[in-house]
Amino acid sequence: MALSSTSQAAIILSIFLVPILSYLYLQRYTRKSSGGPIPPPTQITKLLIYPIKSCHGISVPSARLLPTGLDLDRQWMWVTYPDYKFLTIRNLSKMTLIRPAYDAERDVLTVTAPAPDSVDEKLHFEIPAHPSKDWLAKNTEVVPATVWGTTTPAHCFSTKLTGPFNEFFGQEVRLVYKPPVSDEPRPLVGNGAKDVLGRDASVCFADLMPVLVGCENSLAELNARLKKAEDLSIEIRRFRPNILVKGHEPWDEDRWKSVRLTGSSKRSPINLDVVARCARCQVPNVDTETGEKHKRQPWDTLMKYRRVDPGITFKPCFGMLCVPQGNGGEVNVGEMLEVTATTKNHVYIKGM
Ligand SMILES: *[C@@H]1O[C@H](CO)[C@@H](O)[C@H](O)[C@H]1NC(C)=O
Repeated sequence: MALSSTSQAAIILSIFLVPILSYLYLQRYTRKSSGGPIPPPTQITKLLIYPIKSCHGISVPSARLLPTGLDLDRQWMWVTYPDYKFLTIRNLSKMTLIRPAYDAERDVLTVTAPAPDSVDEKLHFEIPAHPSKDWLAKNTEVVPATVWGTTTPAHCFSTKLTGPFNEFFGQEVRLVYKPPVSDEPRPLVGNGAKDVLGRDASVCFADLMPVLVGCENSLAELNARLKKAEDLSIEIRRFRPNILVKGHEPWDEDRWKSVRLTGSSKRSPINLDVVARCARCQVPNVDTETGEKHKRQPWDTLMKYRRVDPGITFKPCFGMLCVPQGNGGEVNVGEMLEVTATTKNHVYIKGM
């Protein structure tokens, strides 16, 4: 009995195509499913703010979380002159010796740095921490500032204030400011781009995302390896997280998909999307107290076992990059971070 070509096609289809399609469908379905059980809530042990990009951080008991990140975090940045290109620890490791301090009573940011060629002399200036539009119009000039691939309008301070820092940098520099709420926000790219995240979100001068969450347990695991390798132990500040939590099993944060900050009865919980793992460069090799860069660590150790993201296999990961939902609120040390969803699908999207 000869089969018509239509029946032959139908048989071939059911024998080969149906199983293949079901397999692909199932694979896709499991890929979409969760990244395993939700771990228990974990406590926030530190809140860290780095007012000037790449300069020293300050540890605070509480901070206001804005859509762009913790208030005062990376709202200032040093740039080259006359082209206003961002300057970071990658360019000059001693930038971490520049110390901003926040005086809450006067709402002022005080910035100090060791004066070149002097033991006890310090460079110093003060600026309002929350300048009004009027103050900015009178005291700054709007310039196009570039961070990685994006150029964004920023307020540039007078050299009457920052002039002595040219000598510290060994080149002509300017300090620029971007308010957390602005008419021309700096949109997120990569995993935070609108077509990926599903909404508009922005950040001041952080490399990528508004918030970096780090886990103490993962740092402890890394430090155990560093101790063995080079009798070295490093501080969390090198990784520049904003929210530090105790954590779970080391590196379990790799699968967080969303988290919620709870604990204060005064405000409703704050939800954050965990958009990507943080792929690292060699900035963590710089000792934030001395400004000196270690030739190998922790980079070499991290490269051995933390190249865990399929989107950026040539860089090691530490910490999770987050974007707050809604308008945020006040966050306090001692509050809890709850993981609300997990995923197996994190893939870093290069955006810079
Ligand atoms: C500073 O470092 C960044 C990152 O490595 C680089 O893109 C930039 O060109 C450097 N800028 C200067 C002025 O050296």
